[in-house]
Amino acid sequence: MASPKIIIIGSGLSGLSLSLSLSNLLPAASIKIYEVRPSTHPSTSGTINLTPNGLRVLDHLGVYKSLIPQGFNFDNLTMLNHQLDVLASIPIAGISEFEYQSLRIERRLVHSALLQKVQEKSQVEIIYDSKCESVEESDAAVTVRFTNGTSATGDILIACDGIHSVVRKSFVKDPKDFEPKYTGQISIGGTITKSQIQEYNVKNTPYPIMMFGPEAGTGANFMIWPYNRAGDQFTFFTTLSKPEEEENWNGFADKQNLKSIMQETFHAEDSPWNEMVKKTVELSDVEGYRFWPFYLHSIPEKFYSEKARMIMIGDAAHAMPPSGGQGAAMAFEDAETLAYTLAAGFASNPGESGLNTPQGLEVLSKWSDHRIARMRTIQELNKRMSDMRKGSTGSTSGVMFTVKVWVIWLLGLLGVLGRTRRAINNYDARKEAMGWLAEGAIQAS
Ligand SMILES: Cc1cc2nc3c(=O)[nH]c(=O)nc-3n(C[C@H](O)[C@H](O)[C@H](O)COP(=O)(O)OP(=O)(O)OC[C@H]3O[C@@H](n4cnc5c(N)ncnc54)[C@H](O)[C@@H]3O)c2cc1C
Ligand SMILES: *[C@@H]1O[C@H](CO)[C@@H](O)[C@H](O)[C@H]1NC(C)=O
Ligand SMILES: *[C@@H]1O[C@H](CO)[C@@H](O)[C@H](O)[C@H]1NC(C)=O
Repeated sequence: MASPKIIIIGSGLSGLSLSLSLSNLLPAASIKIYEVRPSTHPSTSGTINLTPNGLRVLDHLGVYKSLIPQGFNFDNLTMLNHQLDVLASIPIAGISEFEYQSLRIERRLVHSALLQKVQEKSQVEIIYDSKCESVEESDAAVTVRFTNGTSATGDILIACDGIHSVVRKSFVKDPKDFEPKYTGQISIGGTITKSQIQEYNVKNTPYPIMMFGPEAGTGANFMIWPYNRAGDQFTFFTTLSKPEEEENWNGFADKQNLKSIMQETFHAEDSPWNEMVKKTVELSDVEGYRFWPFYLHSIPEKFYSEKARMIMIGDAAHAMPPSGGQGAAMAFEDAETLAYTLAAGFASNPGESGLNTPQGLEVLSKWSDHRIARMRTIQELNKRMSDMRKGSTGSTSGVMFTVKVWVIWLLGLLGVLGRTRRAINNYDARKEAMGWLAEGAIQAS
């Protein structure tokens, strides 16, 4: 049985889920995860939305069911205009059609459910306070250097180190692809409770709610989204256009400033926005405010290195703006498909420590091509979503707003948004991997 020494850089959502899939499929492998954070703060905060394609992976790993009571489970997203008229109700998910509801949940809860499972696996070790500085591969091994001057060696290294990946820089050839690119959009949001704003939801519209406004200057969109099981704690956020990138976004570090921007945008004297939005901004607690600039990575030609000892997944490989809500789901899909691929690759390569053989490269390139195709599909869908959230691609005059509103209404009516959902939701990472692994008559062990 193959017993490779596997190094994972980063214990975020992709690193943890990968280590779980790998330990199920390669029980003799030894897996070391190096994480820059301290063990006392293993995760970032905020809430994420997980669609069925991502939840399916978590279900395979045995963590999904424990998450159901910890987040908001829902099927439909209601789209309104700024005056609370319904434009469309979009079936985002649902058990009958997609096997799963959608789940909005605090990211740290997903992280800690995965972490708990990882801690049950004796073959996986997480080493905290470990900052990877560089990586290097040879014919025989891969070496990671840490900022404290020491190094570690293994057979295969997987970069799960997120959008500012150090590992990515070591094997993506074109320097202009090292750093993520700013998309010209930022998001600002906060938290509010249902009891604070429900009286202003005058038509009793079900949550989550996505609203579209007439002018970029007065806010082109506003989201109100529950994130706990009872559905009475909400995050709200907007995506604003901000063409110039800032060096370190210091101007957005001050929470009071974030609230002020929201007030100026949605609550000015002549604001066209409904009372629910105005009150949400007005009553929200300053401490709950958060800010994110949107960045994205160009997709490289392949997700593995020259000698096939370094592989990248998750945000390190293809960070995308959160407007499509698919970043974490893509990380989970990457992780599960890669685990099957590595298991098959090692099984077809007995006696080899790596995958730099015709059989090894065959499975790895199939995986990489397949994931790149998937990423292009998702980026295209993301772009459509994000164009919709913008005040219709630059022009936000009254006429264009009317057009945008009709387009959304029509897409909802024709079920186009629903079909888009099917492309996203019905992806079963395990089945997909089995499919292309079987094609080459190479079976996972
Ligand atoms: C505001 C916002 C909202 C989002 N909303 C959604 C959503 O609704 N749905 C969704 O699916 N996705 C969403 N995402 C995207 C999602 O959070 C990411 O795609 C996902 O976390 C990627 O996982 P990852 O493991 O690849 O990277 P990360 O979660 O970033 O993990 C990377 C890990 O590597 C560690 N690390 C970094 N550098 C080093 C180093 N040099 N050495 C050692 N360790 C290192 C980090 O500390 C971290 O633990 C959102 C993102 C943002 C910013
Ligand atoms: C979602 O909408 C569909 C039809 O538009 C409806 O049948 C279903 O009951 C809704 N689901 C929930 C959970 O409200
Ligand atoms: C340096 O960092 C590595 C990775 O965290 C760790 O294993 C090692 O013990 C550290 N060495 C010293 C001397 O601090």
